[in-house]
Amino acid sequence: MRPATLTIHLGHLALNYRLLHKRAGSSEIMAVIKADAYGHGLFAVSDTLIQEGCKTFAVTDAAEGALLRQHTHHDINIILLSGIFDAEDALLCQTYKLTPVLSQLEQINHLKTAHYVGNVWLKIDTGMARIGVESLSAFITQMKDHPFNIVGLMSHLACADTPESPLNRMQLDAFRQLQQTTHFPAYSLLNSAGLIALSSQIETDVVRPGIALYGDEPIPSQPLGLKPVMQLGSKIMQIRPIKKGQSVSYGATWIAPTDMLIAVVALGYADGLPRLLSNQGQALHESGYLPIVGRICMDYCLLAVTSNTVQAGDEVIFFGYAQHAPTAAEVAQQCQTISYELFTGMQPRLTRHYL
Ligand SMILES: Cc1ncc(COP(=O)(O)O)c(C=O)c1O
Repeated sequence: MRPATLTIHLGHLALNYRLLHKRAGSSEIMAVIKADAYGHGLFAVSDTLIQEGCKTFAVTDAAEGALLRQHTHHDINIILLSGIFDAEDALLCQTYKLTPVLSQLEQINHLKTAHYVGNVWLKIDTGMARIGVESLSAFITQMKDHPFNIVGLMSHLACADTPESPLNRMQLDAFRQLQQTTHFPAYSLLNSAGLIALSSQIETDVVRPGIALYGDEPIPSQPLGLKPVMQLGSKIMQIRPIKKGQSVSYGATWIAPTDMLIAVVALGYADGLPRLLSNQGQALHESGYLPIVGRICMDYCLLAVTSNTVQAGDEVIFFGYAQHAPTAAEVAQQCQTISYELFTGMQPRLTRHYL
């Protein structure tokens, strides 16, 4: 079997949840497990968090919510962060007891068409300018006379991971104002970075950590002691000698500076290894770090072998929780992206192991 493997450390997930739960104090945690739990596996992640006592989960849409509801026997709240897109989604909400987050007027019509009676969250835009109603009163007027139960008001921060950004103050002020002038059963604003950096500035009933659950420290200068949950690794298929001056891989972008050995690893961009790591990433081997040389291919990548202890069949790790392994955040930074994209880019063909 192809050895390209994604290992998900559920023990670390549980530990991260406990750290965040402690940090959240009396606020309830709505665990953000959208996009297949940021690529970590919706079912394994939700099962683990349910065991830790989590009762409220945020997924992307009705399809993901329905999958989760069918999977679990526990009476959890399933919140749809993207709300609903049509009346069929509204019907799924009714059938599977899913709570949509409403952010545009058409969604109310879809709920009415589907004769939805149940809970809804409202989302208001306080500065992110993505989704969220602009006028709460027009929205509430439209909802009048229909048996929706509004369970809370949420908004989302644009710059929580940059605590000093002036936009945070504006959004916090706007949300505080709403808390003072409206009467909803619950208010929610903070994501992972907000929970860590801004929770001393605002009291909310529900916090919505996502990335921190998966072990990425949202504010590196204020580490919580989170542990990485996902690890990407594979094995060396063969070791090849190459001559000084010989090029490797597509485009001949790397040339051997000396007679040396190259390790061919069964992991490529079709697994989710970013091609941008070509000629700049590295993998951790028992003997130390081996640099990625030449272009990453669809199914393979090549490592310069710097120790004679490296052998075919040896394991190499590209990011994860192993001691000295690069973190997902470090790897993401090398390819000008964020760990979120790295995690959600892991492809289904990787063998998944859950610890
Ligand atoms: C509305 C909403 N809340 C919470 C989160 C969780 O954010 P984070 O993963 O940064 O904690 C997200 C993620 O994108 C989101 O869209």
